[in-house]
Formats: sequence, C-alpha cells, structure tokens
Amino acid sequence: MDETTLGRLRAAIRAAGHVPDAGFDRRLARHLPQLAREFDAVYGDHPAREAELEAAVLLAARASQARPDELRALDLQREANPDWFLSNRMVGGVCYVDRYAGTLRGLRDRIPDFRELGLTYLHLMPLFRCPEGNSDGGYAVSSYREVDPRLGTMADLGALCAALRDNGISPVVDFIFNHTSDEHEWARRAMAGEREFEDYYRIYPDRRLPDLFEETTREIFPDDHPGSFVPLPDGRWIWATFYRFQWDLNYANPAVFRAMAGEMLFLANQGIEILRMDAVAFIWKRLGTSCESLPEAHRLIRAFNALCRIAAPALLFKSEAIVHPDEVVSYIDPAECPISYNPLLMALGWEALATRDARLLQLALDRRQQLPAGCAFVNYVRSHDDIGWTFDDAEARELGIDPDGHRRFLNRVYVGRFPGSFARGEPFQENPRTGDCRIAGTTASLAGVEAKDPHGVARVLLLHALALASAGIPLLYLGDEVGQLNDPTYRTRPGEAQDSRWLHRPMGVGRFDAARHGPETPGGAIHHGLAAMIRIRRETPAFAGNRIHGFRTQVDPVAGFLRPADRESVLVLAHFGEGTAWVAPERFRSLPRTARDLLTGRRLDLRQELQLGPYEVLWLLLEDEETAWDGDRRYPHAAAA
Ligand code: GLC
Ligand code: GLC
Repeated sequence: MDETTLGRLRAAIRAAGHVPDAGFDRRLARHLPQLAREFDAVYGDHPAREAELEAAVLLAARASQARPDELRALDLQREANPDWFLSNRMVGGVCYVDRYAGTLRGLRDRIPDFRELGLTYLHLMPLFRCPEGNSDGGYAVSSYREVDPRLGTMADLGALCAALRDNGISPVVDFIFNHTSDEHEWARRAMAGEREFEDYYRIYPDRRLPDLFEETTREIFPDDHPGSFVPLPDGRWIWATFYRFQWDLNYANPAVFRAMAGEMLFLANQGIEILRMDAVAFIWKRLGTSCESLPEAHRLIRAFNALCRIAAPALLFKSEAIVHPDEVVSYIDPAECPISYNPLLMALGWEALATRDARLLQLALDRRQQLPAGCAFVNYVRSHDDIGWTFDDAEARELGIDPDGHRRFLNRVYVGRFPGSFARGEPFQENPRTGDCRIAGTTASLAGVEAKDPHGVARVLLLHALALASAGIPLLYLGDEVGQLNDPTYRTRPGEAQDSRWLHRPMGVGRFDAARHGPETPGGAIHHGLAAMIRIRRETPAFAGNRIHGFRTQVDPVAGFLRPADRESVLVLAHFGEGTAWVAPERFRSLPRTARDLLTGRRLDLRQELQLGPYEVLWLLLEDEETAWDGDRRYPHAAAA
C-alpha cells in the first residue's frame, strides 16, 4: 500500500463528513496496510475492489465516531494490555439465553451467580432474529441488528453488555458470517430477483457446477440434505453447507465483505468484547478443493480483524474451526484469531476416558499445545455442538492405532452401543453412506453419571481439571457445573427433533441449589469440585500465559504436562484408569524434591514412587525449584524443553 491510498481514504472520510478522533487516524495509518494487502490479494482483479475498500474504511470511520465512550475507554485499556485474556483469572461460561434465564433481562439477574462461579467471559448463544421453528439454534440469522423478540431487544443486549462489563465479565457472541438465513433481507431480495443481492449468495442455474464441487466437499448435515447445495423453487441450486435454510454468502463478491463488516462493527458498538467467528473454515470456495480453510478464508478474517483494530480495537476474535489439528492452528495468530477453540484436547480427553489409555492425548500435549505469543486456546470439555474425533491419523498410527476403526470404536462407546459402556450419548448426523457419526450428550451423561457408574463424577471432574489447568481460557458449558443430564424431550419439540444436539442443550439450567444438589448428590459433588478448582486456578500464577510442555510419565493411562512459571511451576498429572497407577521416581529426577498438590493440599516427596487413584488428577506446585533432586540445577526451564 502506498501513501496515496492512505491520503485518498483520509480525504474520503473528510468528504463524507466523518470526524473520527486522533486515535482512529493513528490506527488507520497502522492497520490499513494489512487491510489493503489482504483485500488486494483476495479481490485484486475485481472491478469494485477500490470502491469496496473505501466503503469499508468509511464504515469503520462512522463506527469509530459512534463508539460509546465506555467502549473507547476499553479500547485504550486493551491496547495497553493486549494479553489481558491470558490471565489465570479468566474463566468462561456459555449458555443459551432462553434456556438459562428466559430473556436477556433475566440473564442480568443472574450476574451474581456468574460472579460466584468466577466467570470473566460469557458466551451467549445466538440471540438474533431467526426463522421460527428450526433455526439451527439461531445459527440461521435473519437480522444481525435485531434481537430475537422472544429474548428481548437490542437495548436489552446493550444494557446487559454494560452490566457484564461492570462486573468484569466480557460478553461474547457469535459472528455468523459464513451464511445468513433464507429469511434475511439479502436473501429475500435475492429471491425477488434483485441482481445485486443474488450476487450475495452462490446460486447456480443447474447441477453442473454443484456436481463438480461435490466431488471434493464434505457433507456437514447429511440428515438434512446430501452434499452442499439445495434446490430453489425455480429449479436453480444454492450453496448451503449446513441446513437448507442457511445460505452461504458469496465472499468472492467484495460487497459481501463490506456488508458483513458493517454488521460486525455494529455488534462491536453494542459492547460485545469477543466475537466467536463461526464456521471460519467454510467461507471461501474453489472448485477441485474441499472448500475448507482455503488461503482466502484466512485473508478475509485478517481483513475483518484489521478493520476491527481500526474501529473497535477492544474486540477480540475467537475462531471456531472444528477441523484437523493442523488446520485449527492455521487460524491462530494475533492478526487473525488470537484465540481458538481447542477441539483436539477436548476430543482426546474423551478418547482417553473411553480407552483408559492417555497416549494419544499425551502426544497432543507434547506437540500440539504450544502457541505463539499473544495467542491462547479456549479449553472446553464439550460445547453446544457434537463431539467429533478430529485427531491426526498419522499420530494414531504411530501408536499402532487404526484411525478409522478407532473412531468407530469411540462412537460405539459414547452412544452406549459398546457392552458395558458408561456413556449415554446419541449419534449426531450418522451417515450410513460413509459410516461417519459424531456424538451428542451432556458431559455428565457421557461420563457415566446418568448410567450411575461409580466413577461418573470423577470423570467429569477429571476432564474439567484438564481444561482448567492447560494453557489458555477454560470454558464451561453452563449446566455442566451441576452435572446436568441429557434432555431427551427434544424429540417432542418440532424444530429440534431432527437434531440430536438438542439432547445436550437442556432446558431450565438451574442455579446451584444446595437443597437440590446436596454434597452427596452427583451435581453437588461436581459443583463443589469445580468451584474449588476455579478458585485454585485464580490463585496460581503458573496458570497464566500460554506456556505448556508435555511431561511423559511412561505410564499409559497417565497424561502429564507442565505449566512452567518463573517460580513455582505446576506439574499436572491425570489418571484415566479405574485401578491404581504408579509413576516411577526416575521420571521426576529433573524436578525439585517436594511438591504440594494444590487440589488436596497434600505434600509429596518426588523421590518416591507416586501413586494415583482411579481418575485422580494432581496439580503439583513445584516448590524450591532451584535444585532438582538428582542434584542437577537444570530445572525448570531446561528440563521443560
Ligand atoms: C457452527 C455452530 C453450529 C452450527 C454451524 C452453522 O459450527 O457451532 O452449531 O450448526 O456453525 O452455523
Ligand atoms: C462440522 C464443522 C463445524 C461445526 C459442526 C457442527 O463439524 O466442521 O464447524 O461446528 O460441523 O456440527
């Protein structure tokens, strides 16, 4: 980019009558090169390239000018402390507004509960206007500027965001930018034959191109329709990766980028602090490819990000890429998505529970958890979506595991088709043609609490102990903290019956209620254990930042990792078996002599064999790190590498 582009855009901003502040101009000068670079790389040949870039920058100027003072203050705060989300005080929660509290106003009344649990991040599931009946849980958006009237109004959302902010909780919503619902104004105008809006979607006159594309694309919701396209009433075909009423936007048209940028900046100014970038992998399509995670998808996200840096720098992007682990990390970058779901750790926790063997998990801890500075994983036990087995096939083979057979085995365990299985899940999108399926179920039901397995509660706590101790932001699915079970009544609700993910999105998520969840009940025991772990995490500096190293115990069912700190590192050991495991003292040679288990307060002598009970987790604070017990002074940092 040259000075003249900057000069031209400054002049355009003045000509449009915008008078953004000095901060805006400084940020424009700093981030325009990135924006222009990505934009040129994607739209270099498009005749509207220059006009659309200018229009996007004008949107940013207008949004910046309209940004409320409290959010400008937040912008400055975040710019001064860009690593704010790497604090060990960060703990996230996610819920549906209606299922948790009825309405946005109702949710405001629950802020004391969130505080009590220690939340600093609250993801509200999609809450915008959407079609009646099935709307994919709100993931089919009909207007990004209107709240679903059943939940409240935009003013309620703004007030809720302000109240959350005042309580130290960052509001998070989805940016569902891969598709709109077929009731969105753009979709209606496209169907009314307006050329401008037809170009917002990918519409084909016949099956010729759809057939070619489908040779290489994956089927995401085969229960709903095969392939990636659905027919329109006039016989044409439209791209719909997910449900038939979710129409993929055509980002090859720069007007689409500009229009969605407008929606994004609107949300930023309502007080949203983190945008969960929905379905990032799918936004760019090219014939002959899987149409997932193409280079242009990355460039477009970077362009959106650069616009945010200019107009609403407090806003943080989180990527939702539930794909192969190499692809997951390809989105993680301060200039793209600084934070990302960690689907690998999630899936492998469940994998290790099913197999009582933590070796695949250990490989992931050894190789796949380190991120660049300024980035973090969001570590979760389960989400509102299904569990898919997204591990790397080659890594499985290294351990002598046949990846496809293993996935089939895991599916059988979790849908309860394996004799003696503790899990009570259901298949999601079982594909008879490919034999594929993913898993639905709440944490407690999948872990054995529903089946009254004696280890159910311990499994729930073990997975949460991993998510809370590994590097990044832990994220709780609210309801899991009191051990909510599956809700099979979804089968009676039209609009939900065909989508088994509703099994694990139960209604009426109760607050912790001592009467209902006494300490002897599974819900009470889970709540008690989780609350204690959250408290300890908040008090332990080693849980800040994103440093993590695998720690091999050489005991198959015991996974280990270190959270190195300048002083007092923490060694985490997690036992995925039902018997007793012993870790030989030689494994701890490079560690200090003694450690204190943060979870029980117990002191341990690391020169002796270490014993772990069924599903036991240890968070070992390494004291006096100066000298390792074998006399070497190489600990902690050398040994950690
Ligand atoms: C994301 C959401 C999922 C939804 C899909 C389509 O993957 O998590 O619930 O079905 O996007 O928007
Ligand atoms: C697929 C997609 C993921 C989405 C999920 C919804 O796995 O890769 O993005 O969340 O489907 O079920």
